[in-house]
Amino acid sequence: MASSGLRFFLSTIFICFVLINAQPTHIYDHCPPETGNYTTNSTYQMNLNFLLSTLSTNTSLNDGFYDATTGQNSGKVYALALCRGDVASDVCANCINTSSHEVIQRCSNRTSATIWYDECMLRYSNKSMLRVMEQNPIVSMPNPNNFSDVDQYNRVLGDLMNGLVTEASSSSSSRKFATGEKNVTSFQKIYGLAQCTPDISRLDCESCLQAAVGYIPECCFGKQGGRVLKPSCNMRYEVYPFYEYTAAAPPQSPPVNSPPPPVTNTTNTDGKSMMIIL
Ligand SMILES: *[C@@H]1O[C@H](CO)[C@@H](O)[C@H](O)[C@H]1NC(C)=O
Ligand SMILES: *[C@@H]1O[C@H](CO)[C@@H](O)[C@H](O)[C@H]1NC(C)=O
Ligand SMILES: *[C@@H]1O[C@H](CO)[C@@H](O)[C@H](O)[C@H]1NC(C)=O
Ligand SMILES: *[C@@H]1O[C@H](CO)[C@@H](O)[C@H](O)[C@H]1NC(C)=O
Ligand SMILES: *[C@@H]1O[C@H](CO)[C@@H](O)[C@H](O)[C@H]1NC(C)=O
Ligand SMILES: *[C@@H]1O[C@H](CO)[C@@H](O)[C@H](O)[C@H]1NC(C)=O
Ligand SMILES: *[C@@H]1O[C@H](CO)[C@@H](O)[C@H](O)[C@H]1NC(C)=O
Ligand SMILES: *[C@@H]1O[C@H](CO)[C@@H](O)[C@H](O)[C@H]1NC(C)=O
Ligand SMILES: *[C@@H]1O[C@H](CO)[C@@H](O)[C@H](O)[C@H]1NC(C)=O
Repeated sequence: MASSGLRFFLSTIFICFVLINAQPTHIYDHCPPETGNYTTNSTYQMNLNFLLSTLSTNTSLNDGFYDATTGQNSGKVYALALCRGDVASDVCANCINTSSHEVIQRCSNRTSATIWYDECMLRYSNKSMLRVMEQNPIVSMPNPNNFSDVDQYNRVLGDLMNGLVTEASSSSSSRKFATGEKNVTSFQKIYGLAQCTPDISRLDCESCLQAAVGYIPECCFGKQGGRVLKPSCNMRYEVYPFYEYTAAAPPQSPPVNSPPPPVTNTTNTDGKSMMIIL
């Protein structure tokens, strides 16, 4: 009795702790110098601050995708944000809130910027980005751990990712998003994810993702996992599930004995293994 009460108390504290500390995981920010700086106290700066502050509080976030504009002429600012297709709406809103604050700090004074997190991505610019496919920059991040049977792995990986490219780009829903898994051996699976911003066309999504998948041999050959991030699309694969099963995949029971995520240097704090192509 007392012990179950205590257990309940402790697990409640644990859950609160996890919820309060659920900060999005930063991956990379791109603050292109060639787009210039805005002037301090300019209309552009005011509009940018206004736009980003309303992004996080706006509840009409459409299925994890947001595009917004404010201002006129040289003060006009465009913003676009996308949450990973499987994250819950509170996690999504929290990630967009964090990204809209951090992008101002990390890309201070910059006229345009893109910032990536595990859970979401945010871009702003003085140019409209809606329905414009943007392939650059390419940010890639291999999981540092090697895979032993590379030939078998690559064959399954290719099948999985090409299937996800087709599924994500031909999605009729408001999310261009797909996840899936395949057996590499009887005791090892590979899990994949592919996503485009939903504003671009099916063909643009397909070519963006195909190029991302085509980049795997360069960034991530023989590795247990890898990510390729671009402004208009992104993909990732790992030997462990890194996305929410329930929200994303069609009914399928989670693996009971799925291997725990590797803890060594698979997090994106390991900046050394990251490659950026501008
Ligand atoms: C955006 O800002 C850059 C740099 O300040 C400027 O050269 C460009 O003309 C601007 N584009 C638009 C559409 O305002
Ligand atoms: C733009 O702002 C950044 C950071 O505030 C600064 O380092 C850089 O020199 C500025 N560039 C120009 C062209 O003013
Ligand atoms: C910007 O505006 C603030 C508040 O009005 C003012 O304190 C500051 O001096 C201004 N900075 C510049 C560079 O104009
Ligand atoms: C919230 O988003 C909706 C739909 O995108 C837009 O019409 C509205 O103006 C936004 N509100 C604010 C305060 O930005
Ligand atoms: C948004 O983020 C800021 C700074 O990170 C924080 O102070 C604020 O409480 C957050 N707002 C919400 C609604 O979570
Ligand atoms: C932006 O640029 C101005 C001058 O160009 C500089 O005084 C200010 O510190 C910069 N802001 C940030 C946040 O770096
Ligand atoms: C992975 O394999 C490469 C080349 O075969 C080797 O240099 C590297 O040390 C291996 N890394 C790990 C973490 O085992
Ligand atoms: C994948 O492996 C699991 C566990 O060994 C097995 O139950 C399942 O049938 C396999 N699936 C396929 C499609 O081969
Ligand atoms: C993992 O990262 C830690 C800290 O960044 C480093 O000390 C350690 O050597 C890394 N291990 C491997 C296998 O790369």
